[in-house]
Amino acid sequence: MSNPKDNTSLFRRKPVAARDSQLKPILGALDLTTLGIGAIIGTGIFVLTGVAAANYAGPGLVLSFLLAGIVCAFAALCYSEFASSVPASGSAYTYSYTTFGEIIAWILGWDLILEYGFASAAVASGWSGYFQSLLSGIGIHLPQALTSAFNPANGTYFDVTASVITLIIAFLLTRGVKEATRANGVMVAIKLVVVLIFIGIGVFYVQPDNWTPFLPFGWGGVAAGAATVFFAYIGFDAVSTAAEEVKRPQRDLPIGIITSLAVCTVLYIIVSLILTGIVPYKMLDVSDPVAFALEFVHLNGMAWIISLGAITGITTVLLVMMYGQSRLLYAMSRDGLLSPVFSKVSGKSQTPAVGTWIASIIIAFFAGFIPLGRLAELTNIGTLFAFAVVSIGVIVLRRTQPDLKRGFRVPFVPLIPILSAIGCVYLMLQLQGLTWIVFFGWLLVGLVIYFLYGKNRSLLSPNRRSK
Ligand code: ALA
Repeated sequence: MSNPKDNTSLFRRKPVAARDSQLKPILGALDLTTLGIGAIIGTGIFVLTGVAAANYAGPGLVLSFLLAGIVCAFAALCYSEFASSVPASGSAYTYSYTTFGEIIAWILGWDLILEYGFASAAVASGWSGYFQSLLSGIGIHLPQALTSAFNPANGTYFDVTASVITLIIAFLLTRGVKEATRANGVMVAIKLVVVLIFIGIGVFYVQPDNWTPFLPFGWGGVAAGAATVFFAYIGFDAVSTAAEEVKRPQRDLPIGIITSLAVCTVLYIIVSLILTGIVPYKMLDVSDPVAFALEFVHLNGMAWIISLGAITGITTVLLVMMYGQSRLLYAMSRDGLLSPVFSKVSGKSQTPAVGTWIASIIIAFFAGFIPLGRLAELTNIGTLFAFAVVSIGVIVLRRTQPDLKRGFRVPFVPLIPILSAIGCVYLMLQLQGLTWIVFFGWLLVGLVIYFLYGKNRSLLSPNRRSK
């Protein structure tokens, strides 16, 4: 293998960045847990539960959530070790740049662009479902052609609401709404309250008959369902992006990551049981299944309130995902691997506005045209790949840098990281062929861009070209 100290090597490494003194370390474990829940609960639980129950898992959806939750728990442990040993802002991209070298960091960064991009589009699409449900509650209906993604058989061509909300969030982000994404405590509280209301009311309307047959599509359906609802767990990794502002990162980051994941897992399991208990699973393939379940038992007012809460909750996820996307592009561009357009900070707001707009317009296009299920699959394959790399990375890092100070250590290494990687690959294998083709195509395009562009423009390149 080539020498990472040799700056012509594909594996050249960036030094671990010192803590940025401009950012004040003020966040504690509770703040991080709130941040995590803010990024996690969204389109996954409010929308994809219905898709997965109707098409894959049936009432066995609860097992799908359990399976995806277990894989995420292992991955979260691995993420925590990374976050507690390299407490610099950024994500798996930054970690891998300092530990594995440039080419792996590029692949991971490019993969995360896909993850955040498609996740944002998917979340916007979920937002649209609930927004339209609210509108129809007050008698307003959009023209059929503009209600959902491209599907001429259903008479739908473009989801205009999903596209517009993406552009509105882009506008907010370029105005410097970073603070809003941090002070999201109120929105998180609203989101938790609506989930709890649904549980508290829904439990009285469960018809146990709806749970039989429990596994209409067998174990295969449960596994395919898990690969879809995995989406609902994405976001706990976002906690690590706050690393530089955490008081005791080595202790608080793992607590924040693991607690937020644990809270969401418990809620998801209960919600999926209740949802499939109220409505026969075959009827759940709608764009607003949680509100739909309450309408199903004639609680229309309550359904309206749930829709409002869901919209609020999903908005925070969209903010975090699109913010994460723009900052990832920013970091990669600052390192010289992407065009300087993405790190050009402009305006009073001091945000990378041009880059944010470019990315957002592409996301808005995808959100309008591509159906939610497909967007979620693409997000999941990218995220699962990143989780698998991070898991293997823990084992590698233990060997290559055994003395690095780690605030949190994954127990039973290498067993847990190996189980995590196997779990991720298992879920990836449940996804459709087309998803794999797009994923490989994306990675291939990324490698071409790296060799034609980034390799010689990287800040680490000795014969760097500046343009
Ligand atoms: N976990 C996030 C959601 O479900 C991405 O919306």
